[in-house]
Amino acid sequence: MSRIRRLPIAAAAATVALAMLFAALLVPALPARDADGSDSRARHDRDALARIAAPPLGLPPVPLPGDRPPSAEAVRLGRKLFLDRRLSHNGTLSCAMCHVPEQGFTVNELATAVGKEGRSLRRNAPTLLNAAYQRSIFHDGRETTLENQAIAPLIASDEMANPSIGYLIERIEQLTDYDGLFEAAFGRGPGVETIGMAIAGYERTLLSANSPFDRWYYGGEEGALAPRAVQGFRLFVGKAGCAACHLVGERSALFTDHAFHDTGIGWYASVVRPHATEPVRVELAPGVFVDVERRLVEGVGQPPASDLGRYEVTLDPADRWRYKTPSLRNVALTAPYLHDGSQRTLEAVVRFYNRGGHAHSGLDPLIRPLGLSEEDIAALAAFLRSLTGDNVAALVADARSQRIGNPGDLEP
Ligand code: HEC
Ligand code: HEC
Repeated sequence: MSRIRRLPIAAAAATVALAMLFAALLVPALPARDADGSDSRARHDRDALARIAAPPLGLPPVPLPGDRPPSAEAVRLGRKLFLDRRLSHNGTLSCAMCHVPEQGFTVNELATAVGKEGRSLRRNAPTLLNAAYQRSIFHDGRETTLENQAIAPLIASDEMANPSIGYLIERIEQLTDYDGLFEAAFGRGPGVETIGMAIAGYERTLLSANSPFDRWYYGGEEGALAPRAVQGFRLFVGKAGCAACHLVGERSALFTDHAFHDTGIGWYASVVRPHATEPVRVELAPGVFVDVERRLVEGVGQPPASDLGRYEVTLDPADRWRYKTPSLRNVALTAPYLHDGSQRTLEAVVRFYNRGGHAHSGLDPLIRPLGLSEEDIAALAAFLRSLTGDNVAALVADARSQRIGNPGDLEP
């Protein structure tokens, strides 16, 4: 009995290990020099700072703490920390393994992120593209700044799992390849503040727009947007009412109102529990699935963590199951969707809205049956796919210009 019970966890752990191995193998050899012999990392740093100074078409100016852009040294250090697996307690996880550059700075294979030793987190990892504009951080907005947020996964017991902040700081001090880097960036050594500032500085450079939509709407380029996507945009700001929450401005668009809404997703998962009796589908290896009885899976694991959304922050019953409106930029790259990753395709999300979300007493009044035709649904999806920035490959190359920190590297 105990062997059968252990199967799902072992299988899940094997899948995660495989996925991580793939992620590690994806890393190309580092092009230290450009064709003209100059240091490519210096070019990435320069381009990163240029993006902050002049964001791609369609984005507003980047909000900066103290109105000061990060220095090249801070961005380079932040990138290094972001890619460094040695910053997790057991040397396996970096930020970049849940926010994978090649996967839209999220993870496309997993509905909810997987942390230390294969533990499932309860929420979907959001993209970090354009995170610079977030006014509150996390799906429930519980954190205030990117600087403060950066510390959370480093010490969360189910994520990078450092036993304490002091432990983490000592660990960085021991890694000789960090010698002098914090001092060069901030005039002082590693600490809660400087770690947060470095990582946030790098995150603020992950700006991506100048999409076909931007070139059409803000750039006045007639042919930049395909006719079907144009039709989708008309629905988005018109009949479908999407732009009431995913705002489109006159000179720029972040596709969010920075507010929290109940679309019924959280209520449905907590109260209806639609999958309570269905078997759990476990992927043993890429493409190899087995169905395991849910009773067995729930018998070995912890009960599924409840998720009350914004209520967990404000304790106001009206905020139950409200989640932050995400930006829709680059949404074609960031599947699966919603805070719990429960929708796999953009069409599925649009159909969900078309049905009027999951009706219940707390449902946001703006969510209602839309009466869209199949053609309308396809047009809206085409519009959403037109929001992919033109520099995503460059941002991936920027991330991969930094060597990954692996256990054993340059340790005393
Ligand atoms: C184990 C997977 C995992 C790791 C490792 C991880 N994250 Fe995340 N990240 C998530 C999940 C899941 C969320 C959403 C959590 C929530 O909303 O409650 C998230 C949210 C975020 C957000 C908020 C984005 C937004 O739009 O609100 C930022 C920023 C972020 N992570 C940065 C980082 C950084 C920096 C690191 C490394 C220090 C890191 N993450 C490591 C899974 C991970
Ligand atoms: C009442 C405000 C509101 C309206 C109207 C609205 N949305 Fe949303 N949208 C949200 C919120 C809030 C979420 C996040 C829900 C969650 O995570 O559970 C979201 C999530 C999404 C997502 C998933 C993004 C991701 O990264 O996971 C897509 C795609 C989306 N909306 C598209 C649309 C479209 C298309 C329409 C119009 C048919 C629309 N939305 C109308 C508030 C709204």
